[in-house]
Amino acid sequence: MDNWKSLYIYFISGTGNARISSEWIAEEARKRGLKTVVQQIDRLENIVMPSADEKPLIGFAFPTHGFNAAPIMLRFVASFPPGLCKEVFLLNTRAGMKLYKLFMPGLSGVALLLPAFILRLKKYKCIGFRSVDLPSNWIPLHPGLRIKVIESIFIRCEKIVRNFANKILSGEKVYSGLFSLPVDLIISPVAFGYYVAGRYFLSKTFVANYKCNNCGLCIKECPTSSIKLVGGRPYWKLSCESCMRCLNHCPKRAIEAAHGMAVVFWIIFTTVNTQIILLLINVLNIQPKVWWWRITADILSIGGMILIVTLLYRIMHYIIGLKPVNYLVRFTSLTALPFWRRYTYLKNNKKYICYNKEVTTF
Ligand SMILES: Cc1cc2nc3c(=O)[nH]c(=O)nc-3n(C[C@H](O)[C@H](O)[C@H](O)COP(=O)(O)O)c2cc1C
Repeated sequence: MDNWKSLYIYFISGTGNARISSEWIAEEARKRGLKTVVQQIDRLENIVMPSADEKPLIGFAFPTHGFNAAPIMLRFVASFPPGLCKEVFLLNTRAGMKLYKLFMPGLSGVALLLPAFILRLKKYKCIGFRSVDLPSNWIPLHPGLRIKVIESIFIRCEKIVRNFANKILSGEKVYSGLFSLPVDLIISPVAFGYYVAGRYFLSKTFVANYKCNNCGLCIKECPTSSIKLVGGRPYWKLSCESCMRCLNHCPKRAIEAAHGMAVVFWIIFTTVNTQIILLLINVLNIQPKVWWWRITADILSIGGMILIVTLLYRIMHYIIGLKPVNYLVRFTSLTALPFWRRYTYLKNNKKYICYNKEVTTF
């Protein structure tokens, strides 16, 4: 253990879980008289780095996306300057759930391993790995959790995170995030698939419904500047990381994950893709089972998926201006169902939203 004089935490957070975790750790550090700097890395802008004479301990907190660290955090870690300190720690927030009285954990995959590996190459020593199962924010997959469930998950996780902070700050090494290593390694191919292909498909499932009043909040809040106005309506670029901030923050509940539209896109993509691959096999007289063709076909399919889905999304963006199309997209989106709650931990004031009308202070 070095004699740390300061704590720098860099975090990215879609809906506030990694943010509150960073704040809990910083509070514990302040109790020990350390100077603390908690930095959001949105858009990788205005980031303050510590100087060596501040003797910093550096931490990274981020959500898990597709069994990996959020891509913006991976980019940040990859460009992180070497030699700022000796020791660092990592904390990933995951999809916490509760089934009756049982707290259910999320899955990390390579979310801790990959940034730790990159930091190791830069000669940083990782003294803490922790996963924390705060309320899941993956709203396209399930409605936001109920207030009572959120509350109990928060109470449990606050203790876990503060405990983690205190152990690290007293020089103990914490590797509990590595307990699930065998499972994490088994699912790592999915992490790869999500990183190279899945996330681009997800970013093309967001639409603004007719309730959108162009307030611009989603554009302002987006941590990767991935939303722009096209024809007076929000349009999600491929750089969107599906962090869920826009969908969960929208005061009008005007942002949907368009399930029906995504299914139609998928059917069109697979049909077109199969025809193109078959055509290539016939025209070029390829043996479909040879290894190099299998790899080439996979690469072509990923490229084709991104291209075709982006094109379809662009077309849809214009025709969704027509009320019947807008209604059809909305009413085939599960997120439009009245009980499909949103989830956000609000900044600055200790409040969280479970459903637009329910706001609780804790
Ligand atoms: C696109 C996406 C992918 C996700 N993938 C995973 C995952 O692989 N494993 C997991 O445990 N949680 C996953 N989650 C859930 C979030 O990691 C989890 O809710 C996290 O606590 C959110 O933190 P934040 O509020 O700081 O963004 C995913 C969420 C989203 C939106």
